[in-house]
Amino acid sequence: MLKNKKIVLCVTGSIAAYKSAYIIRLLVKQGAEVKVVMTESAKNFITPLTLSTLSKNLVYSDNFDKETGKWINHVELAKWADLLLIAPASANTIAKLANGLCDNFLCAVYLSANCPIVVSPAMDLDMYKHNATIKNIKYLKESNCKIIPAEYGELASGLTGDGRMAEPENIVSFIEDLFVEKKKLKKYKVLVSAGPTQEMIDPVRYISNHSSGKMGVNIANYFSELGAEVTLVAGPIEKLEIENNIKKIDVVSALQMKEQCILAGKESDIIVMAAAVADYTPSEVSKVKIKKKTDKISLSLKKTSDILYSLGKNKKENQILVGFALENFDELNNAIEKLKNKNLDMIVLNSINDKGAGFKSDYNKITIINKNLKKKSYELKTKKQVASDIVDEIIKLIN
Ligand code: CTP
Repeated sequence: MLKNKKIVLCVTGSIAAYKSAYIIRLLVKQGAEVKVVMTESAKNFITPLTLSTLSKNLVYSDNFDKETGKWINHVELAKWADLLLIAPASANTIAKLANGLCDNFLCAVYLSANCPIVVSPAMDLDMYKHNATIKNIKYLKESNCKIIPAEYGELASGLTGDGRMAEPENIVSFIEDLFVEKKKLKKYKVLVSAGPTQEMIDPVRYISNHSSGKMGVNIANYFSELGAEVTLVAGPIEKLEIENNIKKIDVVSALQMKEQCILAGKESDIIVMAAAVADYTPSEVSKVKIKKKTDKISLSLKKTSDILYSLGKNKKENQILVGFALENFDELNNAIEKLKNKNLDMIVLNSINDKGAGFKSDYNKITIINKNLKKKSYELKTKKQVASDIVDEIIKLIN
């Protein structure tokens, strides 16, 4: 079940640190790839050599390589992970994470992670039930960390009570459940369109726009991570990381995109049109390269067919149709008009006026409007995070 899952195990200073060796063994046995981060204090309880031998990977604990002085990239490690597991999580580390402190490598990885985070506390019983710890754990929960409650039993102090780190088997089974829960769209077929279209003028020239396809690709990837069967109809886009299970159909023009979207749309439970489809295309495509004989030339353009409108007109019962609206004036009203005209269940509004967001950027700022005209505006976020916000709202529509 954990085959090929990339897990970063963060070990902090607690007597329970010895159990991290068992956690690694169980994870590796299930096919997961594990990289370990240790705090300095954790090394008093278990050696990096033990954990690197079991994980078959280097163990990270410093921001700099002591020998070469080279910076060690905590961001890369955080982005590599499908899941961050902090086990054992000491009271000190929990307090640091809850308050956004960043005085060691582990905290830096935590603050850079966008993947699910699981925290398994371990401490003495009075520390565990102290108001400060309760408040910090509550805060981590509100920040979307999953907490595996400490278990009851004999503690290192000789006292008996709640505070023991959950047993490795329970931690691993918690993680398995999390990945199963993540497969909640297993039965769904999803169509996502992405990128620009190119409309040929002559054999060497075309009309297009600046769409990078990043938003659509991130949406497709997130649907795929949730277990959906995804078809991605993509206009000409740069090389982007696309999940292996996704069926990618490459198209160039608006007409080709329409043909493929209508075809795949018939089979789909959810359709998200994130592509920036050209609204106009040359009335005629010159078969030969147009020569620069005159000072001025005019290009006659004709309207392309609106793919989303056609999909909305032929929408199947229970099918969910989501569109985008790119606006720069009277934004909300224009988006609502598109939502109604195109028979959508939800529209994602982007404004060209938002700084930092937009076509080539890795960031986006959106407002989601559903068909009951309920609005939700979001902060500027990475396109990956925006994709998960959009998909989460779509899941609410399904439910
Ligand atoms: N769209 C489409 N087919 C087109 C044009 C747009 O399916 N020929 C889809 C886009 O993928 C997007 C939505 O319609 O999901 C809105 O696109 P947008 O460019 O914002 O609006 P338009 O409908 O093209 O209207 P206008 O350009 O006048 O704002």
